Amino acid sequence: MTEAPFTPRVFSGIQPSGGLTLGNYLGALKRFAQAQDAGVETIYCMVDLHAITVWQDPEKLRHATRELCAGFIASGVDPEKSILFNQSQVAEHAQLAWIFNCVARMGWMKRMTQFKDKAGKNAENASLGLFGYPALMAADILIYHATHVPVGEDQKQHLELTRDIATKFNHDYGVDFFPITEPVIEGAATRVMSLRDGSKKMSKSDPSDMSRINLTDNADTIAKKIRKAKTDPEPLPSEVVGLAERPEARNLINIYAALSDQSVEQVMRDVGGKAFSEFKPMLADLAVAQMSPISTEMSRLMQDQAEIDRVLAEGAGRARAIAAPILRKTYEIVGMVGA
Ligand code: AMP
Ligand code: TRP
Repeated sequence: MTEAPFTPRVFSGIQPSGGLTLGNYLGALKRFAQAQDAGVETIYCMVDLHAITVWQDPEKLRHATRELCAGFIASGVDPEKSILFNQSQVAEHAQLAWIFNCVARMGWMKRMTQFKDKAGKNAENASLGLFGYPALMAADILIYHATHVPVGEDQKQHLELTRDIATKFNHDYGVDFFPITEPVIEGAATRVMSLRDGSKKMSKSDPSDMSRINLTDNADTIAKKIRKAKTDPEPLPSEVVGLAERPEARNLINIYAALSDQSVEQVMRDVGGKAFSEFKPMLADLAVAQMSPISTEMSRLMQDQAEIDRVLAEGAGRARAIAAPILRKTYEIVGMVGA
C-alpha cells in the first residue's frame, strides 16, 4: 500500500478504439463497477488521446468514445458515483505527460512489450506517440494521485513504469509528491483468452469474430460462440491442477468463475467430471444472462447522444477540479514561473 498522505483513490482507463469484448468486461469494466461500490473515490476515463497513437478515423473515434461511455454505464459504472469522462477534455493529462516525457528514460520505454507488439516489424514508422504512450498513461493516473489501478494482466508492465516514473520524479526533485501506485490485477479473469486458441488473448483486433464475445453481441450470438468454442476431448477435471496443460478448458472455467463471482476452486467443485457438452450450455446460460442485458442497455443509451455528451462533460469538470491543483503544484516543484 502507498503510505499515509495519499487517500485511496481508484483510476483506470480504456481506449475508445473499437468494440468492447468479454475480456474488457471481466478484466476491467465489471471490476470498475465493483470498486465504485467499495467506498473509495473512483475515476474512469475513455483515453481518446491514447487511441490516436495509431490513426483513427475521426467520425469512428467519436462514435467509439460515446459507445465506450455507454459500455461503462451499462456495465454498472454510475456517473453519479464515479467520475466518468474522456481524456482530451482534461488538458492536465497531456500537460503532466510532457513533464513525464522528461522524467522517463529511453531505455525504459524501449523495453515496453506493448510497443513492440503494436509497432511490429516496422517500428521506424510507428508514431512518436505510440512510443511515449506509457508516459501519458502514468500522467493519467498520477494527475489524480491515484493509489489503485484495476486493469487486466496485459497492463502490468505499464503500471511498473508508472511506479518508476513516480519514484524518479520524487527522487530527482527531493519530494514525496506522487504516490507509488498499486496495480490491482485480481480475480479469475485478468487474462481472458481467445475462444479459438487458448494461448492467445481475447482481443478486439483478432480477425476472427468467433474468437471473442463482443459487448454488443445478442443472446443467440453469445450462445453460438460458446457452443463453438475450442475445447479438448476430455471431461473437466475436478482439481485446479488438472487444468495446467489445458488452456481452453482453463479459459472457460475462468470465465465461468468471473461471471458467477466464484473462485475457480468453487467452480471446479460443481463442474468437475462433467463433459463439455454439459458444461458449455451452463456457461452459455450464464454468459447470456449477464451479457445480453448489457448489450440491450448500450443500444438504449446510444439513442441519446446528447445525454452521453452531457455525462462526459460533467465528469470532465469534476476530474479537472482534482487535476488542476496537482498540475499547478507539479509546475511549482519543477520550477515553472507563474505556477
Ligand atoms: P484496451 O481495450 O486494450 O484499452 O483494454 C482495456 C482494459 O481491458 C485494460 O484494463 C485491459 O487490461 C483489459 N483487457 C483487455 N483485454 C483483456 C482480456 N482479454 N482479458 C482481461 N482483461 C483484458
Ligand atoms: N493502456 C491501457 C490499455 O491499453 C489504457 C490506459 C490508458 C489506462 N491510461 C490508463 C489503464 C491509465 C489504466 C490507467 O488498456
